[in-house]
Amino acid sequence: MARAQLSIPGLAEMKARGEQIVMVTAYDFPTGRMADRAGVDVVLVGDSGAQVVLGYDSTVGVTMDEMIVLASAVRRGVTEALVVCDVPFGSTELSDEQAVATAIRFVKEAGADAVKIEGATPQRLSRIRAITAAGIPVVAHIGLTPQTATALGGLRAQGRTAATAERVVTEALAVEEAGAVAVVAEAVPSEVTELVVPRLQIPVIGIGAGPADGQVLVLHDLLGITEGRVAKFVKRFASIGDDAVTAIQSYAAEVRAGSFPAADHQYHADADVVAAASAALTGGRGER
Ligand code: KIV
Repeated sequence: MARAQLSIPGLAEMKARGEQIVMVTAYDFPTGRMADRAGVDVVLVGDSGAQVVLGYDSTVGVTMDEMIVLASAVRRGVTEALVVCDVPFGSTELSDEQAVATAIRFVKEAGADAVKIEGATPQRLSRIRAITAAGIPVVAHIGLTPQTATALGGLRAQGRTAATAERVVTEALAVEEAGAVAVVAEAVPSEVTELVVPRLQIPVIGIGAGPADGQVLVLHDLLGITEGRVAKFVKRFASIGDDAVTAIQSYAAEVRAGSFPAADHQYHADADVVAAASAALTGGRGER
């Protein structure tokens, strides 16, 4: 039976019913299709794509044009889940007008259902209000916000001191008040999340934040495609990266050994067709 298509108000309804919201990132058509076929509720075109699929060393460098290409491809693959697009660094910082223009691009050019914006400073809250007022739903992102990690002292958990725990709680209340339809909480202690979740009407979607109203992970982390060390909160549910390397090695070995392509992977022609081709070859040479 096909599941009912989720709506933006449906996110808060899921929270009210105590149903967990499943969010995962995707960056292109096939990963969007896979996430949708797997039945997730929300597909996030994260700016983590900067590192995961574009090879940047942080999320800061990715451009709006690059995000639009990724988001449009994901949208073409997703028919059931909500598609949320991350606004990249530099695309909302200048003014509320710039932020609204960015959000409109995601909706018009990539078919986004909502945009996600990092941070809860007065400037960020103003952007959430402006985009919301333009009729575009906003998912907030608090705790560790990778776009401004330098200001936070690096890619590290937030809310582990009294002062930063207070900041996380204050930010959660503020983004809800500004109109966010959900909030991603990244790398915060479970105890702080536990305090926040019942205080908000909007769902709190955790990543490294312990139990919440839902969870999000970077697809390439959970599939085991990301190479090397991953964050403490990542669980690998498969080893697709290693499996892919093994498959490519098998292909290379068969090509080098001459065992691929075998008969099953070749087209064949009847003897008269081969004779005609052969005659054409001989005739062609003779005419020169
Ligand atoms: O860019 C991203 O993938 C994210 C998630 C980690 C929440 O923001």
